[in-house]
Amino acid sequence: MNYYTLGDSGLRVSRLALGTMTFGDDWGWGADESTSRALFDRYVEAGGNFFDSADLYTNGRSEEMLGAFIRDAGIRDQAVIATKFSYNAEPGNPNAGGNGRKNILRAVEGSLQRLGTDYIDLYILHSWDRFTPAEEVMRTFDDLVRAGKVRHVGLSNVPAWYAAEAQAIARFRGYEPVSTLQLEYSLAERGIENEFVDLATQRGAGIMAWSPLASGLLSGKYRSSDASGPSGEGRLITTAGSGNPAFEKLNERNFRIVAALESVARQLGRSMAQVALNWVINRPGIASALVGATKLSQLEDNLGALEFQIPEELFQELTVASAGEATYPYSFFGPELQGMITGGATVGDKPGGYYTSHLFEGAGAGVGASDDND
Ligand SMILES: NC(=O)c1ccc[n+]([C@@H]2O[C@H](COP(=O)([O-])OP(=O)(O)OC[C@H]3O[C@@H](n4cnc5c(N)ncnc54)[C@H](OP(=O)(O)O)[C@@H]3O)[C@@H](O)[C@H]2O)c1
Repeated sequence: MNYYTLGDSGLRVSRLALGTMTFGDDWGWGADESTSRALFDRYVEAGGNFFDSADLYTNGRSEEMLGAFIRDAGIRDQAVIATKFSYNAEPGNPNAGGNGRKNILRAVEGSLQRLGTDYIDLYILHSWDRFTPAEEVMRTFDDLVRAGKVRHVGLSNVPAWYAAEAQAIARFRGYEPVSTLQLEYSLAERGIENEFVDLATQRGAGIMAWSPLASGLLSGKYRSSDASGPSGEGRLITTAGSGNPAFEKLNERNFRIVAALESVARQLGRSMAQVALNWVINRPGIASALVGATKLSQLEDNLGALEFQIPEELFQELTVASAGEATYPYSFFGPELQGMITGGATVGDKPGGYYTSHLFEGAGAGVGASDDND
């Protein structure tokens, strides 16, 4: 296991973080306590230091278990604990959810208590509530850092304009900056490439990629539709019809990506999960991929994801097979219209160490291509 500094912060984190959304079986697709403990122990044994939870996960059980495992292992100083707030904890009370100061200050106390610790290493807004100004969130984050309850802060599932505004406010007001953007990213979900990869790499936030296996789809264990619909065993079948967009993965487009992944994995003699994780980790802006598991054998498989390098040609094959359509306005940033801006003159990338856009990278368009994967 090797470590990166997260964004522009000095916090050193494992490139594979352990997701704890599956700690506890309260939601019907997680792991019981003894399996969760075994997952934790194996991850620590492999050298991992980065744990991700949320007050929402398994109704608080995830934080309780994580806190107990860290305490029992005696590794609070080594562990980097990330946890999140936004989701409502008390039906009927609008201030027991969302990103206003009143809820953040309520939520942090609950997380500290369940985790059994007096500080959180990385406190993350879980989801945009569509109302709270970025100024209020960033000021409250900064208060928590100054009070010693939180070390670093981050944002998850927010629009890019909001994250950019939050970071600009932090910069100009001297607040604690956003060190991470926690976002869904995998071969099956590449929406963040339009805005967030450039935002993260330009503005000092490391991306924590959630659901890097698209909730298990990219392990290859689900089969495409026959008369009775997609088949396989796991979360995506258990949660079918839940309406949660993160779980709507069993469709024909994604099965075409799975087929390309299967072919590359076969050529490499690696599992599909390992290849899918390796691809995510080696894409621009990705600081850490959040691995999740319900079984020890799955974690064992996933921990092997960094042991090999995908040859460039096969890496590109995956990138091209999973690319989406260039939508407006991003379609304006490709070589044709950029050529009209430069007047046909060749304008090369900036020298190494300077920012260049990652948009269109690896898609064959060649705009701002850079091999800077940090
Ligand atoms: N910020 C957010 O909104 C957000 C959202 C989601 C997740 N997260 C974080 O990201 C973490 C990881 O997310 P995720 O669990 O969705 O990640 P994922 O890697 O996409 O999916 C993990 C699931 O896939 C299956 N699986 C994993 N490895 C496998 C293997 N080698 N072979 C076969 N099946 C395998 C297991 O489910 P089954 O056994 O059920 O098939 C496992 O629980 C979470 O724990 C959480 O910390 C954050």
